[in-house]
Amino acid sequence: MRHPFLEGLSKHRGSPPTILVIFGASGDLTARKLVPALFNLSLDNLLPAEFRLVGYGRKEIPDEAFRKSAREAIEEFSRRPLDEDVWSAIEGNLVYQAGAYDDPEAFKALAERIKSLQRKAGREMQLVFYISTPPGVFEGIVANLGACGLANHRVGGKLAAKVIVEKPFGRDLESARGLNRVIARNFKESQVYRIDHYLGKETVQNLLVARFANAIFEPIWNREFVDCVQITVAEEVGVGSRGGYYDESGALRDMIQNHTMQLLSLIAMEPPVSLDPESIRDEKVKVLKAVQPLDLDEEGDTVRARYEEGLTGGKRVPGYLQEAGIPADSSTETYAALRLHINNWRWQGVPFYLRSGKRMARRVSEIAIIFKRPPGILFSREKQFETAQNTLVIQVQPDEGMTLLANSKIPGLETRTQPVKMHFRYATTFGSNTPEAYERLILDAMVGDSTLFIRGDETEASWRLVTPLLEKWKACGSRGMAGYAAGSWGPLEAERLLWQRGHSWRRPGI
Ligand code: BG6
Repeated sequence: MRHPFLEGLSKHRGSPPTILVIFGASGDLTARKLVPALFNLSLDNLLPAEFRLVGYGRKEIPDEAFRKSAREAIEEFSRRPLDEDVWSAIEGNLVYQAGAYDDPEAFKALAERIKSLQRKAGREMQLVFYISTPPGVFEGIVANLGACGLANHRVGGKLAAKVIVEKPFGRDLESARGLNRVIARNFKESQVYRIDHYLGKETVQNLLVARFANAIFEPIWNREFVDCVQITVAEEVGVGSRGGYYDESGALRDMIQNHTMQLLSLIAMEPPVSLDPESIRDEKVKVLKAVQPLDLDEEGDTVRARYEEGLTGGKRVPGYLQEAGIPADSSTETYAALRLHINNWRWQGVPFYLRSGKRMARRVSEIAIIFKRPPGILFSREKQFETAQNTLVIQVQPDEGMTLLANSKIPGLETRTQPVKMHFRYATTFGSNTPEAYERLILDAMVGDSTLFIRGDETEASWRLVTPLLEKWKACGSRGMAGYAAGSWGPLEAERLLWQRGHSWRRPGI
């Protein structure tokens, strides 16, 4: 039986006939996420009837071999098993085009290939370019798409070319600005879709609904009632085989500047005037602009650390410096924690604590809104009155859901209290077969909805905030780098950020 929600979606969110070109087609992201996402969209009948996928990469790969690797990717990584009928309907629509990323001739050949696909289909189609390569070639691809005319395809109309840009979007403010300039020379902002895959996660999309479709949260969502906000994006994995990339990046660039800041802006933004993409993105940018510059002093707003040998899942694992591909003199952080202050009427004086790290005790991403205590007049802190601060925990992943921590009387003949939890779980309420972030994001780009993508000024606003810190850490080398045991909740030094304001980190997980 078809899912009624998806039936509705397919009627209202139809994409025009589309040719999707993936640059970096033999890469990891294509196999793990993009191809399985396309297969799942197809399974739900959400791809347009006329759809072609052009894989583009430097390697020479025959169409047949590309199809075979796509099939294997679906078998290995799709959330639902390969369906032979669906596969045989889409298989023939996958083709491969080899070429360099900096070669204008190769892009002319790509343009020819696209023309010939349209001729065969007997119609013009929308062109969507997905840049999923290492960042060093982003600018070359964008410039070449402009030079060969593909960027201008049907601009202003329903079939206008679009470009999806993967992360990392720059390494700092200057490089992000540079990339934005190259993009702006070749595409209009309305054609650009900068990815942050966290925005495609169901629980992240639900932040706007939870905040603005309910009347009870908004009146208390401010400095009068909120004591502090804690955002944790913890991973259990280490750097694995991505050491080469990661050592050039670090936790601040890899997770905080993008994913964690997105969670912050959605949780702290003002209500948008409407649900259209620009109204929402305007409010997100305003919040980022209201964040005060970080205090970079040693006892200031920031902590960085690197994991050391430790235990995860009962297994002894090496420290970061012992991982493959990591130089012995590396000064890259695998954990970062920040204390942010949002200087606006709603939030002034409420600290926002952000932390993210690899090799932490467990994989969990959550946002905790911790409310102020009531006046300690009736239920003071005596032993029989165990109370906790009311906390709304939005668990982004895994075990997606929401929990409200409240205090209750323990049944019995005397008055004793205890904190209790009220849970809402996606899995129990909606079932667990939720679309993956990339399914939603690819579909949105194809139908031209940019709500869940980052606007150019938004990416610059978040780089503006973290760039001075990146520069400071670079200048300090390993000086000031704390350590934490793999499998722990991070360094002791990160507690300082909270103790200084009378808070302490929550143990994540509901
Ligand atoms: C990516 C980072 O953007 O996000 C990775 O580059 C990280 O280092 C990943 O592991 C985490 O994504 P998720 O969806 O597993 O939380």
